[in-house]
Amino acid sequence: MALNRRRRSAIKPCSRKVIFISLLIVLPITIIGLINHYEKITYFLRPLWDTPPQPLNYLPHYYAENVSTDRLCHLHGWSIRPHPRRVYDAIIFSNELDLLEIRWRELLPYVTKFIILECNTTFTGIPKPLFFAQNRERFRFAEGKIVYGTIPGKKLVPGSEHEDPFLFEAKHRRAMNDLIRHSGISDGDLLIISDTDEMPSHHAVKLLQWCEEIPMELHLQMSNYLYSFEFHVDDTSWKVSVHVYNSKWTMYRHSRHTDLILADSGWHCSFCFRKLSDFVFKMKAYSHADRVRRKDFLDFDRIQRIICEGKDLFDMLPEEYTFHELIKKMGPIPRSKSAVNLPGNLVEDADRFRYLLPGGCLREE
Ligand SMILES: *[C@@H]1O[C@H](CO)[C@@H](O)[C@H](O)[C@H]1NC(C)=O
Ligand SMILES: *[C@@H]1O[C@H](CO)[C@@H](O)[C@H](O)[C@H]1NC(C)=O
Repeated sequence: MALNRRRRSAIKPCSRKVIFISLLIVLPITIIGLINHYEKITYFLRPLWDTPPQPLNYLPHYYAENVSTDRLCHLHGWSIRPHPRRVYDAIIFSNELDLLEIRWRELLPYVTKFIILECNTTFTGIPKPLFFAQNRERFRFAEGKIVYGTIPGKKLVPGSEHEDPFLFEAKHRRAMNDLIRHSGISDGDLLIISDTDEMPSHHAVKLLQWCEEIPMELHLQMSNYLYSFEFHVDDTSWKVSVHVYNSKWTMYRHSRHTDLILADSGWHCSFCFRKLSDFVFKMKAYSHADRVRRKDFLDFDRIQRIICEGKDLFDMLPEEYTFHELIKKMGPIPRSKSAVNLPGNLVEDADRFRYLLPGGCLREE
C-alpha cells in the first residue's frame, strides 16, 4: 500500500502535465469538431430523435405497352369511363426549363390545361428573371393549353433576410389557388399538384383520367433521381398528388393529403440542371439556403466533381429514420446504365438532353 502510494506520487507530476497538455489540445479540437459537424451528428442520430411519418398505403399499379385501358382499369378494380376526365396540371415554376419541356411533352396528349405560376424573386428573396415568360417561344407546342400567372416577389428590406421562406411559399400557394380557380377547371376534373421536377408518367395520368371510382385524392409514388437519370436514389418520393377536383375543398398544397398512393407513377429528378450556374442559383434559392454553410460550396469545380461522383452538394447525410436505411445510403449514389422506362421524349431527344442520361455528368458553365 505504502509502496503503491509512493510510486503513484512519483509518477503524478509528470502524468498530470501530460494529461493537462493533452486536454489543452484535444478539448478544443473536439469542440471545433462538434460545432463543424453539428448537422452531420444530428442527422446521423435522426433515428433516435425523429419519428417517421405515418406509413402510406401503396396501391398496386399495372401497366404494360399495348394492354388496353379497359383492361388496366379492371386490374385496378375500377371500370372504364365513357370519356376521359379533363386534366389540369399545376406547377410553381422556378428555372427548370428543360424539365418543364420534358414534362409537358410527356403529358401533352392527356392534359387540358398546363397551369404555371412564376415569380420575379426566389423563395429566399433573390431577384430572378421570369424565365418562363422569356422562353415562352420554346413552349409553342403547348401554346393553346397554357394558363400562365405571375406573382410579385418578396421585397428584401435590409435586415429582413431571415424572414421565413416557408411563409413566402404560403403566399405562392394562395396565388396558385386563384390561378386554378380561373383556369376553367370544373368539379370532377383531375388536378395534378406537383413541382416541375416531379413528373408523372403519361400512362399513370391516362389511367386516372379514364377510370371511374378512383380515390378522390391520391398520391403518386415516384422514383427519386439526383443530378440526372444516371443516379437513381430510391423510390420514396410521395409528394405529388392527383385530385378529383371539388371547388369547395380542393386546395393547392404540396404536402400529405391522404394515405393512398399509386405505386411507380413517374420520376422526381432533383438538381437535374444543364448548367453549373443553375446549380449555384438553386443552392442559393432553395428554401433551405442555410445549408450553404461554406463559400466554396458554390465553387464550379467542386460542384462538377460532386455531380460526377454522385455525392451530396451540401455535404450532408441522407435523411433517414432507421440506422439500417441511413447506413445503406451513406456514400455516393451508385451509377445506373439504364435509360429504360424514362419519359419518351427524353429518350427520343437524347442528343439534346445528354446530360440527363447515363454517362453525361459533365455540365456546361
Ligand atoms: C398489340 O395489340 C394488338 C391489338 O390488341 C394486337 O393485335 C397486337 O398483336 C399487340 N402487339 C403486341 C406486340 O403485343
Ligand atoms: C417584381 O414585380 C413587381 C410587380 O410587377 C415589381 O413591383 C417588383 O419591383 C419586381 N421585383 C423585382 C425584384 O424585380
